[in-house]
Amino acid sequence: MDKVVNITVFDREGKVHQVPAYVGETLMDSIRRAGINLVPDSTCLGECACVGCHVIVSNDHEHKLTQCSEDEAEILEDAPFVHENSRLACQIIVDKSIAGLVLALPQSSTDESLDPYFRF
Ligand code: FES
Repeated sequence: MDKVVNITVFDREGKVHQVPAYVGETLMDSIRRAGINLVPDSTCLGECACVGCHVIVSNDHEHKLTQCSEDEAEILEDAPFVHENSRLACQIIVDKSIAGLVLALPQSSTDESLDPYFRF
């Protein structure tokens, strides 16, 4: 199946998910299809206008992604728990180069010991 790559997602509770991602779809779609609670109900649905799809990409994989656009960077400025490797999953199109990507969803609590970016 050369149209599918596998990625690893740490959810908000720190649970690890192996997620199949289809080439050509957004990472947001891959993560949502896996049943991971990425996007709350009230979001922009992939229009780069909210932070509902905020993810933090591991240092080992950040360079494999397309560059963050100015619009994406601007939206991320308001994201809670923003990190230097923060991205919006709706703005990342899956391709074969991201096979093995590891990312985490930011914690919603203020307990830093639980925050996923400390794992990266
Ligand atoms: S779903 Fe709103 S920015 Fe990605």
